[in-house]
Amino acid sequence: MGLILSGLLILAEKKILNYGECRISINGGDKELTVQGGSSLLSLLAENNIFIPSACGGRGSCAYCKVSVDEGGGSIGPVEEPYLSPEEHKNNVRLSCQVKVKNDIRIRVPKELFSVRKFSGRLIHKKPLTHDIVELRIELTDPSEINFVAGQYIQLESAEYKGNDSVMRAYSISSPPSDKNHIELIIRLVPGGICTTWVFEHLNEGQQVTFSGPYGEFSLSETRAPMICIAGGSGMAPIWSIIRDMLDKKNVRTAHYFFGALTRNDLFYVDELRKIDQDNQWFTYIPALSREPDGSDWSGEKGLITDVVARHFPDTSQHESYLCGSPGMIDACLKVLANGGIPEEKIFYDKFA
Ligand SMILES: Cc1cc2nc3c(=O)[nH]c(=O)nc-3n(C[C@H](O)[C@H](O)[C@H](O)COP(=O)(O)OP(=O)(O)OC[C@H]3O[C@@H](n4cnc5c(N)ncnc54)[C@H](O)[C@@H]3O)c2cc1C
Ligand code: FES
Repeated sequence: MGLILSGLLILAEKKILNYGECRISINGGDKELTVQGGSSLLSLLAENNIFIPSACGGRGSCAYCKVSVDEGGGSIGPVEEPYLSPEEHKNNVRLSCQVKVKNDIRIRVPKELFSVRKFSGRLIHKKPLTHDIVELRIELTDPSEINFVAGQYIQLESAEYKGNDSVMRAYSISSPPSDKNHIELIIRLVPGGICTTWVFEHLNEGQQVTFSGPYGEFSLSETRAPMICIAGGSGMAPIWSIIRDMLDKKNVRTAHYFFGALTRNDLFYVDELRKIDQDNQWFTYIPALSREPDGSDWSGEKGLITDVVARHFPDTSQHESYLCGSPGMIDACLKVLANGGIPEEKIFYDKFA
């Protein structure tokens, strides 16, 4: 009797949770999916190989997963509200991780996302760059080639470990697009972070890794305007890809690269960047240290990267700027660059948040 009752309870629960088959109509019917309702729009699209960017792994805190939901998405939830501008409200924009599919739904997504796909590869090296930053080099196995634009990012999938579920996190590709059979990533350990702890403590050379991509619009413009690049920590990644792409393409556009670190021990790729500086008139590398101990023989720039940039370029009005790093660093740089006169639309950045 007890067994029958619990069986009925499970059935009843299933009935409540099961929304049955739902249709997702995309871009006016260009694509139609039939899915089992009950999960987030973001995850149902991913199950059908349509990968929407999702830097926070569906927690509703990155606002990367926006799509337009024209019908069937229900009302906007409190988690979504702060991320939607009046313009986006008008355009039916929603956070796809927060939209639960319970009935037929009509959505619009940018066409470029149809070319995002899932990749498998093998970690062929994991090299420490500083005490809390590693470089990963992944050889692609399925498919064996990737096409991307320097500055774009992928979403790495961590494996389950010690009670942590698998998560997806965004990492900029640091290798140049010419190296189609590999990607390189530069990853900084976030203490207590799910994905970075997996990378640092559980991911070993030879292991298989999966990711989706490429995503993002952070890339070099097609103008010839002189560039001010600014990065800190693992923000090096997309700039390193862009610089190597410029070398591959024999670009001669002037670029000053300011890299901010606390101490000399937090700098990496110094020899490589100094060599590029020596060999190429168009490129200048300016590392700056904000907490190098007194008495050190460091003869380079000292101080906050924003002050160093302002000293070198009091007038930025003719430049374009490319920034990458923590939200705090980017916000501080935006102020300095704006004070120097650079128009907002000439500043390109990716915030690692
Ligand atoms: C477009 C994009 C590109 C990115 N590229 C890179 C890259 O090339 N290299 C890289 O190292 N990271 C990059 N990031 C950051 C990365 O996606 C993760 O957010 C970061 O690695 C933390 O993931 P986690 O799972 O270890 O931490 P979580 O488990 O997600 O977070 C643990 C805790 O740390 C906080 N936290 C999350 N991220 C950070 C952070 N960056 N600094 C301080 N605290 C944080 C969270 O709020 C949370 O409280 C990028 C982010 C974006 C949006
Ligand atoms: S995935 Fe980050 S807000 Fe939706």
